[in-house]
Amino acid sequence: MIDVASLRADTPGTQNVIHLDNAGASLMPQPVIDAMSRYIDHEIGYGGDETHRAFASEIDGVYGTLADLIGARAREVALSDSATRAWDMVFYSMPLHEGDRILTTTTEYVSNWVAYLHLRERRGIIVDVVPNSATGEIDVEALESMVDPSVKLITLNHVPTNSAVVNPAQEVGRVARDHGIPYLLDACQSVGQLPVNVDEIGCDMLTTTSRKFLRGPRGVGFLYVRSEFLERLDPVFVELRTAPVVLPNRYELRDDARRFETWEKSYANVLGLGAAAGYAMGIGIDAIWARIRGLAATARGMLDEIGGVTVRDLGAVKGGIVTFEVEGLPAVEIRDLLSERSINVSTVTPLSAPVDMHERRIDNLVRASFHAFNTEEEIEEFVRAMRAIA
Ligand SMILES: Cc1ncc(COP(=O)(O)O)c(C=O)c1O
Repeated sequence: MIDVASLRADTPGTQNVIHLDNAGASLMPQPVIDAMSRYIDHEIGYGGDETHRAFASEIDGVYGTLADLIGARAREVALSDSATRAWDMVFYSMPLHEGDRILTTTTEYVSNWVAYLHLRERRGIIVDVVPNSATGEIDVEALESMVDPSVKLITLNHVPTNSAVVNPAQEVGRVARDHGIPYLLDACQSVGQLPVNVDEIGCDMLTTTSRKFLRGPRGVGFLYVRSEFLERLDPVFVELRTAPVVLPNRYELRDDARRFETWEKSYANVLGLGAAAGYAMGIGIDAIWARIRGLAATARGMLDEIGGVTVRDLGAVKGGIVTFEVEGLPAVEIRDLLSERSINVSTVTPLSAPVDMHERRIDNLVRASFHAFNTEEEIEEFVRAMRAIA
């Protein structure tokens, strides 16, 4: 059972706003803020390199914490600037050649989608979109029927950026395993929101960010690469961190996932990310997931009763993202009107998930996304504001 009062006491931002943009960037709790300020204060007082050395073992500990969060091993984790860079590092390192097929989902995130188009142009790969089941998730039977020897990669987003859907990542993992196809999971919206275990899911690579449901700082994310899969990737970039042994005519790559990192990082952010992962595990991911789902379901039900408001969420299992539209009012206008009342929501546009938005003929939606620190009273205030706006 979650102690909501203590989560809110830990979260200074809850005193200022009703924050329903946890799928965009959540509010950081005090342990995250403390971890970052401790590092920055030291850096101010003693210098950047010296501080890096002084915190070396704490920084190293972050890999183990992140590994615990997703059921991996520390050597399978690499840090990155963002989920997109983590994803790019492995996607562009895949040995994909002309005629190789990728199977992906309708709800693919725009940056991943544009990378497919890029490699389609540059290397002649084929990108096939797997249809959805009636409830909006990837249709796993259709996926299996599309598999043939030319399929060299399956990609999936666990939770799309623009809907409540939770994709059946584990069933997709079974198809990937049965057919020996590499499997890349975009877990940007799921890590921190719901339980994620790489062994149960069976993915070879996973990417995510710090700032969303994990509630860490911006500008940092991480990557998981299964140990047995590491040598199947040819790193797209090579540098000091990737190849710590460099002789005049030879280099050696690291033997762990950190071969996908850059040497330079924001270590305050890294410590913030580690603290966020520890904080989430301390609360309990199962409990966070149950509360998020409950709050989002309550909001969905109440919004549905407002005349002129249409909730557009799909999903047999619905998560913490609630999307809706209001007849005659653009989503950005609603976002701004809510913001005037200190209620934070975000919007989704065709740019968020181009294939899905095009197929569903949706131009723009308001996205309200809930976290465990939100309250029923906040939902009531949000719904009251929506009644006034709609
Ligand atoms: C499903 C999904 N994947 C990837 C990303 C990209 O994350 P980042 O902005 O950290 O690169 C997002 C961001 O909204 C997302 O929602």
